[in-house]
Amino acid sequence: MISRRPLLAALALAACHSGTSSAPAPTRGATDAGTPQSLSADARYVPAPDRRAAVFPMEWRHKAGRAPIIGTHAMVASDAPLGSAAGVEILKLGGNAVDAAVAVGFALAVAYPEAGNIGGGGYMVIHMADGRNATLDYREVAPLAATRNMYLDESGKLTDRSVVGVTASGVPGAVAGLTEALAKYGTMSLAQVMAPAIRYAEDGIPVDSITYKSLRGGRALIEKFDGRSVFLPNGEPPAFGSTLKQPALAKTLRAIAERGRDAFYAGPIAEAWTSELRRAGGIITMDDLARYRPAWHDPVRSAYRGYTLLTMPPSSSGGVTITETLNILEGFDSLPAFGSAGWAHLLGSAYQRAFIDRNEKLADPAFVSVPIRELTDKRYAAKLRATIGHMHATPTATVSATMREGMETTHYSVVDERGNAVATTTTLNNLFGSGVYVTTAGFFLNDEMDDFAAQPGKPNMFGLVQGEANAIQPGKRMLSAMSPTVVLDRDGSLLLVVGSRGGPRIITSTSQVILNVLDFKMTLADAMSAPRLHHQALPDSLLVEAAGVRPEVADSLRAMGYGVATGRGIGLVNAIMRVRGGYEGVSDPRSTGRPIGY
Ligand code: DON
Repeated sequence: MISRRPLLAALALAACHSGTSSAPAPTRGATDAGTPQSLSADARYVPAPDRRAAVFPMEWRHKAGRAPIIGTHAMVASDAPLGSAAGVEILKLGGNAVDAAVAVGFALAVAYPEAGNIGGGGYMVIHMADGRNATLDYREVAPLAATRNMYLDESGKLTDRSVVGVTASGVPGAVAGLTEALAKYGTMSLAQVMAPAIRYAEDGIPVDSITYKSLRGGRALIEKFDGRSVFLPNGEPPAFGSTLKQPALAKTLRAIAERGRDAFYAGPIAEAWTSELRRAGGIITMDDLARYRPAWHDPVRSAYRGYTLLTMPPSSSGGVTITETLNILEGFDSLPAFGSAGWAHLLGSAYQRAFIDRNEKLADPAFVSVPIRELTDKRYAAKLRATIGHMHATPTATVSATMREGMETTHYSVVDERGNAVATTTTLNNLFGSGVYVTTAGFFLNDEMDDFAAQPGKPNMFGLVQGEANAIQPGKRMLSAMSPTVVLDRDGSLLLVVGSRGGPRIITSTSQVILNVLDFKMTLADAMSAPRLHHQALPDSLLVEAAGVRPEVADSLRAMGYGVATGRGIGLVNAIMRVRGGYEGVSDPRSTGRPIGY
């Protein structure tokens, strides 16, 4: 067996970035659907009067002052232009934000195979203009045959089987979730909203520079399994500029469009793909599929400086951890200047404390009692705030002791012309999930089992050190960091729809975009371009983006006792903000996405 550490490090890196191959990328051509739209680098946009011009470090690769992309009626922002186009197609046919979000979800399963999926799961936060709010948890669950120590070898060491191959997958929730959301909040038929996805799978998608790079980046994993026949026809991605058809997936999608979730969770398609998986040694059964149910919950609702956040409750840790962090920060009258050592110290310390709770206490509430109310309480945040030293770092071990006393994912945001909003994050975990591709049904299976604490106390693929609460149990949802969030303005109107990919960095990247808009009054474009930082308690270091903090700030942070680590990118966010005259849509400049509005 391949040794776990280097493989996992490579996968975790791949899971958070696209295009990791060292071979030169093809240049963009006429078929390229993935060129981000923006002003030329030196053009500077004059922001609305309530926004302040942002200042980033000199060497930082994204410039402040990008022009916004504004839709006067509606907006969709996703990691793939064809995903956003599918949503807009449905909106223009009169669909609402939920119809469009479901269309985007299925379209990404075809047009963005590294992360869009029907073999994974996700979360959706829905805010309807009539005041209804809801969240839908369609996270995968551990198969019934899963056991606590299933990923340990004979000597008790953690293997890579929670990450790669046929045993790495939880029972997929995506089809159940998307169909459920449509049935409850949509206005169109499944056949209508799935039409773009079916068309993309049957007629093919253009292999543009982004798809080509993504497939080449995932080649080492894809070529181990049957997906190579579709995605690496001659050992290489289909030629740049050619068309990639997915007939098996098209058949599956057509069946779902006709017969709904049952086409995926029961009957011949389910029989075929589960048998194919079991022949290879997998453990998901027809019984697992028959039992799978998505779960509706009220959002985690919190107030931050007069704004309202509607976020995802467990089984995702996203909403609770963001709320806990922002509650800690709210106790400071204002935040230190963006990019200063004080800013990094306060944000890092708040994340460190919130992640200590996340890693120990959060898990699937159907299995473990989760203290949501306590963790999101402002008085509890005040106690944590009091443990933050004045301009010095506190080791995670010390903070944890005090507190005891007392890759691949994609996010998309949709707003329709009535002001209904949907924030959805969905994942296979790694780029191309476990690598396992079921040929009979045409999709990649997730490797979500690695989000459990496969060996409590030992780091997972993302270096998260998690406790007993998140240990593997059959039928249990593995803890997630996905953080789809809707922010309401002080008058209760829709302000922001936001979420990210990036494992635990989802929490930090999503919340920093929110802070940049609410506290630092940046335009959404600047809020997304701004350098980010990350702290997840363990490893006990502050991660910053390369050239994202000024050298003297990094020196100050080291002097304060921080281990400062530098990474390539923290999160890939897709967000929409209500602005004068419509909605501003921004896809992360670190990503390949594109907002489309009208
Ligand atoms: O649910 C989670 O927290 C992870 N499975 C998300 C993985 C992810 O974001 C990978 N992308 N970089």
